Amino acid sequence: MHRLTNRNILLGITGGIAAYKSAELTRALVGAGANVRIVLTAAGAEFITPLTLQALSGNPVHQSLLDPEAEQGMGHIELARWADLILIAPASADFMARLSHGMANDLLTTLCLASDAPICVAPAMNQAMWRDPRTQENAQRLAAQGVHLWGPGAGEQACGDVGPGRMLEPAELVQLAAEAFGEPRLKGLRVCITAGPTREALDPVRYISNHSSGKMGYALAAAAAKAGAEVVLISGPVSLETPAGVQRVNVETAEQMLVAALELAPSSDIFIGAAAVADYRPVAVADQKIKKGQEELMELRLVKNPDIIASVSALPERPFTVGFAAETENVLSHARSKLQRKNLDLVIANDVSQSGIGFNADENEVTLVSTAGDFKLPRDSKHSLAQTLIEQIAKQMSTNEH
Ligand code: PMT
Repeated sequence: MHRLTNRNILLGITGGIAAYKSAELTRALVGAGANVRIVLTAAGAEFITPLTLQALSGNPVHQSLLDPEAEQGMGHIELARWADLILIAPASADFMARLSHGMANDLLTTLCLASDAPICVAPAMNQAMWRDPRTQENAQRLAAQGVHLWGPGAGEQACGDVGPGRMLEPAELVQLAAEAFGEPRLKGLRVCITAGPTREALDPVRYISNHSSGKMGYALAAAAAKAGAEVVLISGPVSLETPAGVQRVNVETAEQMLVAALELAPSSDIFIGAAAVADYRPVAVADQKIKKGQEELMELRLVKNPDIIASVSALPERPFTVGFAAETENVLSHARSKLQRKNLDLVIANDVSQSGIGFNADENEVTLVSTAGDFKLPRDSKHSLAQTLIEQIAKQMSTNEH
């Protein structure tokens, strides 16, 4: 797998003749497996058309900060969060000046300020402009701010001059982008994740379930795949697309989830239980639809479901086992007791009493609970939180091994 596989690259294209090379750069990034979204500045659009870039990237091109239609699709803040890496190629002298001074007067500079992703700039300009002390000062300021400067190269320029200021070739930029991600954290490891709810049938048309959407587990699967792991997702019934590079096993009941987990866990290095498994199921499933009777009260007899994660952690050759704790009160003390009772390596505690996080929400706020202590993470989108969680799991796992 290429290091850029499934990486989200935001490619900024500013005004300069080298913008024609950005078409080839887009193709090369997509060819290496990256998801590419392009932000084209007004000056950039004088050199290359959005249509070309849309066709090559497979995504609409973003051009304006104040575009209600674009904001309805992927809004600028969402775009800033989506990016794993921002690459501006070509980066004009004007763009470097604005970025180095923290300006946010167009979509691209705004995204750079709003994103936590590493920013890489591939300067492209006339040799005299590059050598100008003001451009040099801006370049140094950017480097001091942690922006990576890739290039420029030297040679013959479009204007006929010879000297520094050429944008690096697309192949060189793809290589640098790949190196920026380093060795994938979970390379060579197998990760098994449960996600979504289980459904416990009462009769052919009714079941007991819960509000889990699967978003948290699916985000973790995507993040683990991005970190280089081989990922299997054991999924309850949800309406989400399988993340790229992830193998999915569909189940419906807790018992089916247990069978799949016990089959996959022994060959896994990490097991994460993000599923909201029904703790109980009906003692018997009626063959026919249960008819409404005269009685006001109806009693259901339930029997305890197997505890999937506790069964995994009891395996003789157990993977590094991570559970969730979905609690509405005494969140941390319940999480600590689950850590012990279920013999887990790590518990991700979430307070599901708060609206906007937990079940069926796009965000979550969790505390990692382990024998090493508690570690609270700030509220974040499940997508970005999942990446932090995978990082933390990888870290904790390597600490445990030493
Ligand atoms: O799916 P989303 O809408 O994105 O919502 C995410 C979530 C809130 C479901 C998720 O973040 C979460 O907290 N998942 C665990 C929910 C849960 O059932 O928690 P619990 O505290 O009841 O269970 C503790 C742990 O034991 C969990 O890892 C659970 O998967 C596991 N378990 C529970 C019961 C059971 N019979 N078998 C299990 O393996």
